[in-house]
Amino acid sequence: MMETRITRLLGIQYPFLQGAMAWITGWEIASAVSNAGGLGTIAAATMEPERLIHEIRRTRDSTQAPFAVNIPIRLPTSQQAIDVVISEKVPIVVLAAGDPMKVTERLHRAGILVLQVIFSLEMADRSKEAGVDAVIAMGAEAGGNLGPDELATMVLVPQVARRIDLPVVAAGGIGDGRGLIAALALGAEGIQMGTRILATRECTVHPAYQEALLRAKDVDTTVTGRRTGLEFRVLKNDLSRKILGMEKSGAGREEIDAISIGGLRKAAVEGDTSTGSVMMGQVSGMISDIPSVAELFNRIMSEASARIREVARYFDS
Ligand SMILES: Cc1cc2nc3c(=O)[nH]c(=O)nc-3n(C[C@H](O)[C@H](O)[C@H](O)COP(=O)(O)O)c2cc1C
Repeated sequence: MMETRITRLLGIQYPFLQGAMAWITGWEIASAVSNAGGLGTIAAATMEPERLIHEIRRTRDSTQAPFAVNIPIRLPTSQQAIDVVISEKVPIVVLAAGDPMKVTERLHRAGILVLQVIFSLEMADRSKEAGVDAVIAMGAEAGGNLGPDELATMVLVPQVARRIDLPVVAAGGIGDGRGLIAALALGAEGIQMGTRILATRECTVHPAYQEALLRAKDVDTTVTGRRTGLEFRVLKNDLSRKILGMEKSGAGREEIDAISIGGLRKAAVEGDTSTGSVMMGQVSGMISDIPSVAELFNRIMSEASARIREVARYFDS
């Protein structure tokens, strides 16, 4: 147990949120994370409404604990996903990739808590104005889609925590007890993990993806899409080299998006880690095993309590 404004708001035991990952996080990992005391999250991004309803119902069958659905607002599927979460009475929605202004009130009226993923202070202000319940400040160490200015977690989180009085969850580059302590020290009241969760037993991502993650070293990720304005942090492989080459030679956004977005399915579902898009964060260099979610959470808690004692010693005297 660990109590913060985030655990109280969401009704969870540990302030550990599982980041939504398109094509990957369905009911299996969401219910495992919620059963282990964190917040499991279904990624609605690539799901048709029927599929999303199925995932929500399976999650409900598998856990009594709260869970969330993540909806990237700017995707064409978002309106239908919002209708589904309202009709299915999902307790928590995490909004990403877009402006929360239009949908927050509707979700609140349906009794749904709203969290917003943000990359900048401008987005923090906008989220506050929209009336969201908490924000997830995600730095550019993260895997997947990044903010255009690529602020690191280290500088983003303290500025957001100082700027707005809402509870802040830190995301991007966090995967162990040291990361938890650092996030709390920066002013966050919870952490969200994506890459670390990919390497858990309950995660249904293709085993070849997990193997690539375990092999990844400190410098093995790169960012594609800087020239076209849709940045993704991915593992360096044949596809990322091809995309970076296309960007250099001036290829258009649509052409590049087509192979990036379809590429995540290819890697995560089919296990093609060479020509698929193997999205993962810089923390991959620190990950070398595949524990269960409950083991991971216990480990993070015990590492964090050991680490905080060591750090506190510097101030005893
Ligand atoms: C493969 C992959 C897919 C992702 N898909 C989504 C998504 O659909 N929606 C979203 O809000 N974030 C998405 N993210 C971001 C994660 O939810 C999370 O915020 C991020 O992974 C945290 O940083 P970390 O990777 O350093 O832990 C994705 C990340 C990865 C690695």
